[in-house]
Amino acid sequence: MRTETEKDYLIRAIDALEREMIVMSPDFQIVAANRRSMEKRGPDIVGKPCHNIYFRRNEPCEECPAAFTFNQGKPVLRHLSRRPDETSWVSCYPIFSNGNVDALVMLDFDLPRLDQLEEQIHRHNNFLKNMINSAVDGIIAADRKGKIFLFNQSAADVSGYGVEEALDNLYIQDIYPERGAWDVMKKLRSEEYGGKGRLKEYHVEVLGKGEERIPISLYASVLYENGEEVGTVGFFHDMRERLRLKRELESAQIQLLQTEKMASLGKLAAGVAHQLNNPLGGIMLYTRLILEEYELNDAAKDDLNRIMKDAERCKDTVKELLVFARQTRQEKQLHDINKAISRTLFLLEKQTLFHNIAIQTHLALALPLILIDIQQINHLLMNVILNAAQAMEGQGQLSIETGLSADSRHVVIKIADTGPGISDSALPHIFEPFFTTKEEGKGTGLGLSMVYGIVENHEGRITASNQPGRGAIFTIELPVRQSD
Ligand SMILES: Nc1ncnc2c1ncn2[C@@H]1O[C@H](COP(=O)(O)OP(=O)(O)OP(=O)(O)O)[C@@H](O)[C@H]1O
Ligand SMILES: [Mg+2]
Repeated sequence: MRTETEKDYLIRAIDALEREMIVMSPDFQIVAANRRSMEKRGPDIVGKPCHNIYFRRNEPCEECPAAFTFNQGKPVLRHLSRRPDETSWVSCYPIFSNGNVDALVMLDFDLPRLDQLEEQIHRHNNFLKNMINSAVDGIIAADRKGKIFLFNQSAADVSGYGVEEALDNLYIQDIYPERGAWDVMKKLRSEEYGGKGRLKEYHVEVLGKGEERIPISLYASVLYENGEEVGTVGFFHDMRERLRLKRELESAQIQLLQTEKMASLGKLAAGVAHQLNNPLGGIMLYTRLILEEYELNDAAKDDLNRIMKDAERCKDTVKELLVFARQTRQEKQLHDINKAISRTLFLLEKQTLFHNIAIQTHLALALPLILIDIQQINHLLMNVILNAAQAMEGQGQLSIETGLSADSRHVVIKIADTGPGISDSALPHIFEPFFTTKEEGKGTGLGLSMVYGIVENHEGRITASNQPGRGAIFTIELPVRQSD
């Protein structure tokens, strides 16, 4: 039996609850109510039917939990809809007297907050999902076995795997080539790369769906739950575009250097040519004077004519050199490509390297003039022709052909040699800066990279291949200026 003090405490405790609590008789009349119920439902609820107070009904409710407890003698927890905007969970506990349920206690759990919580969780989840999916960077998370359980849209775009496909079948080991995943895990667990459990800005390659290797910059971390390692998450950025820009920038810098070098060489050549011009003029003038003013025997005349001829040749060379080295920068004008080729050959064929090279030209007649920077095109021809002569080691046949493309939109120049050709392993690299197969000191490997830059600058195309017999052939296409 409880003492009066205990009973007093119990009543006070019941009144202290911030939950509604009513005691009900089998005819659904409220026979007692705690403080919270009276505050919420009114001070005079005792003696009134429950359905009337709570649901403004004259009859008991259809799904009445109290009816269940009275009938079954068991407690029940039930969800009730009071009004469309108000829902609640209530518990009914039977109160026995001599084995019969003569009353029950009904507790309002005031649980609608659970619904709200669920909705809130749902909203937060959606927000997180949206955030992960709309991230510009790829995000991938995997469990301890490497099974991927998070794979966002950017990861899909970069890798070529679909999101669902990745979540269904993919392991983190599959997206790294060789032992890449193992290497990343090793680095993650070490202290050196951003602290234990973290990896910062690590440059590595991943394998796309089509097996292509994609360079990425990776930030990764180990996921812990209660101090236990449960997986890993990685944020990564596709580096392809950035690397491409970097390469372009590097080659532009190299081209600039090369152009500068060529420009100063040009200046030097032009200076020398100017200086030669005057004495040459003198030689020719005085030779002519001697020929005209003196009575000479035939042998002397022959010698003087020889001097005259050689001096004229020198003058031609100087003239070509001046045109070749003309100090115009990035200035495109209409030019005849055949003339440019003849001029380059004129300058080159006297060089010792060309003495045992037969030069064959098939220059198409009536080619349209093309809009080119003649200085650059001279450099281009010079480089390609020199390469050919060097490949033939000064012995063989150099063929140069010009013509119009089938659609008449390009002038096509083909330069072929009878050298050893370009090896399969070198072919993909010959236009790269610093690629050379020549021994140290003989070649810088910049010639063709500059040529490539010049062709691009003219919105043209250059390709290299090997001829079926032997020797290499370079095909250069330069656009014919559209009538404007
Ligand atoms: N006609 C050719 N036949 C065979 N190989 C060639 C030919 N033209 C170029 N190559 C190859 O391409 C490489 C690159 O040529 P590139 O002109 O860029 O540099 P290089 O000639 O080696 O050096 P540089 O021109 O700077 O003196 C050469 O080293 C050579 O291996
Ligand atoms: Mg070269």
